[in-house]
Formats: sequence, structure tokens, C-alpha cells
Amino acid sequence: MSNHEHDFIQACMTVLRGNQMTSNGFRYTRPAPHVYEQQWLWDSCFHAVAYRWLDPAMAWDELRSLLAGQVKNGADVGMIPHMVYWQGGGEALWGHDKHSIITQPPLIAIAALAIYEKTGDSTPLYEFYAPLCAYHEWFMRRRDADKDHLVSLIHPWESGWDASPRWDVPMGLQMPTDEQSKSARHGLVATLRDADMDMQILADKGSFCVETADFNAIRVADLEALAQIALIIGESGRRWRDEAKLACEVVRQRLIQTDNDGNMTICDLSGSAEMPIITPSASQFVLLFGGCLSPEQAEKLVNRLQSSAFWTPYPVTTTPSDHPQFDPAHYWRGNVWLSVNWLIWRGLRRYGYHEIAHDLVARTLTLVKNHGFHEYFNPMTGDGYGPSQQSWTTVILDMALTENLA
Ligand code: GLC
Repeated sequence: MSNHEHDFIQACMTVLRGNQMTSNGFRYTRPAPHVYEQQWLWDSCFHAVAYRWLDPAMAWDELRSLLAGQVKNGADVGMIPHMVYWQGGGEALWGHDKHSIITQPPLIAIAALAIYEKTGDSTPLYEFYAPLCAYHEWFMRRRDADKDHLVSLIHPWESGWDASPRWDVPMGLQMPTDEQSKSARHGLVATLRDADMDMQILADKGSFCVETADFNAIRVADLEALAQIALIIGESGRRWRDEAKLACEVVRQRLIQTDNDGNMTICDLSGSAEMPIITPSASQFVLLFGGCLSPEQAEKLVNRLQSSAFWTPYPVTTTPSDHPQFDPAHYWRGNVWLSVNWLIWRGLRRYGYHEIAHDLVARTLTLVKNHGFHEYFNPMTGDGYGPSQQSWTTVILDMALTENLA
């Protein structure tokens, strides 16, 4: 190992260790001190993927604590909340002291499989399988009211892309200010609570209810990982493999539109009427991660990814740079996020675009080395924003070590 590699690994470790917590005997990692004190769902998955190179016991513990937060009773039994309040404090917003009432992108089976692949240790998979099945059963029971194999989000926070221009239309907002967009998201929580998070009631009311391409593609990949975990521990897993195939097919048929000239558009579907919403964003590239594209479709998408609209000096910008609402300095309005880059990088590798994947990692590594472990970055200048010790930014380690680049 070179000195550089050693120093970089140490730097990642310092960020993660600094944000680590123990509560009720469970260990987890805060996304960042002061700003994000709770345990967050998809953050913990990225932390686990980074920890698998550094401290496998902690990688398993990160997922173990997340699963311990699973909802135990009521209509949402089985859901993994997007925030677990280990010290309490959720009551005022969510009506629950210890957890939120919505979820986030399901990457837990994917993260568990990634740790297993690195360590060869299958023991925790026996323990995780039942809660992971219950989580996916929850999706099918509570988030697929029309049984079309696409699950719906009932709040933009569930996507992880909180303030993205993608949500302006389904939130009924037009060119909102930060304040307007924030207050709309907080207001929506009251609506969710009134409807007891029942998506049919919410859809009938015209509340935010969106079947998104990226979330559904991530779900496909997580179902595939769950099916693989099943085989490793001697279960059949057929149910999850079948659901993954069906969901993948529906994503392909309903969320990818191709016009007579062969132009391809990826859309999300909003409300009971399933109105297509097309707001260009990097979320479309997450379809690569889910394997939801034919090779020809993947090629079109990869060409688009490499256009200057997305392949900014520091790729990948989440809102294209030629979009009227592109704002490189504003939270989710046109920035680079390591969570999204990791998904796209894995998707590129899945479809055999190894050189582009490698280049993406090289550029992302330069970004982090030169600008620090920020929460998100300016895609033009590389300036970092948000906390400077953001845990999930260490997922660059997974990318860099896999690509022999650290
Ligand atoms: C912000 C991000 C969300 C993330 C959370 C914790 O709310 O939008 O995706 O999970 O911070 O890092």
C-alpha cells in the first residue's frame, strides 16, 4: 500500500469514527455531527459499504442497528424508517419519538451482500434475511396500491433528493424559493399523518404520490440482492427474483418512452392518473444500477451521461447544467452527491462501461481529495457545501479501492 493510499484510508476512517455512536448497545454512524444526529437509512447503507474495507464488524453493526429500527406494529409494520432517533426527539414532527414515518431508497440487501462479498462471512445474513423480507413485503403491501409492481413515494424525502426540481411539479410548486420548498415538505408530513400514510387516501386527495424510475430501479437491485442472500443461506428466494424481474419489466415498459425518432425519455408517474413527469435529472442514470435497460437503451443513456449537460468539470451534476433551474450552489438544485455517483458508477460497471466508470471515480476522488468530505459539491468549481465531515462521502473509498485508484 502506498503512503497516499494509507493516508486516504486514514482520512476516511477519521470521518467515520468521528461520527460513530453507540446507543442501547447498537452502533451506528451519524451522517454528520450537529446537522444530522440521527441514523438515516440510505446513509447507513453507504457507510456500511465504506466500512467493509476498513472494519467489517462495524459494517455489519451499521446495518444491524438500521434493522433494529424496523417498525414493529401498526399498518406500517416492516417498514424501515428513513430516520431512527436513537435518543428520541421525533415526536413533534412524526408523532413517534423514535422514528420517522417514511422510508428511503432500499439499499440494505445490496449493502449486506457487498459486505458478504468482501468478507465471505455469511453468518449475519441469516439474521438479516427475515427483517429484509418483511421490509420488501411492506413495500408490496403499502406502496403498490394498484399492484403494478411499481412502488410509490409519498414524500420527496423518501427519494433522498429532498429539494430537487424533480419535485416542484408534483409538490404543486413553481420556481420555489428555498423557504417555500422547505415549508411545503414540512407541511406534507401533517398530511401524511392525517392519512395514516395510506397511499390510496393520499393519492385520492391529490397529495404527493410518485412512482419514480430511480427508486424503483434501486428496489429491483435490492430485490435481486435479497434473492441472492436467500440462496447463500439455503432459502429459495424465488419470490424475490420473480418480483425483481416483473418490476424491472414494468420500469422498462412504463417509465422509458421512445418517440418515432428514437429519442428516449425516462419519466416518473405522478398521482392516481399516473401522469408522466419529465424533469431531466441524473436520476435517469440510476436505471443502469437496476439493470432495467436493454443494451441499446443503456448506450443512449451513457452517451447522454457524457454530454456536457451532465458530465460537468466534476461529474455528475444531479440537475443538468443546461436546465433553467440548474443552481450549482443550492441544495439538490444542481450539485454532485457521492450517493448518486456511487449508484451511477455501479450501474456503468454492470453494463460493461468500465472505462467511463473508472474515469468517474478518478474525477470524484480528485473532488474529495481537493475539497474535503463535504455533503455535496459544486459540479463546476468543486466547492464543497454542507457539513465538511459527511460520513457518506467516504463511499469514495469503495469506488477508489475497487478501481485501484486510492
Ligand atoms: C439530506 C439528504 C438525504 C440524506 C440526509 C442525511 O436530507 O437530502 O438524502 O439522507 O441529508 O445525510
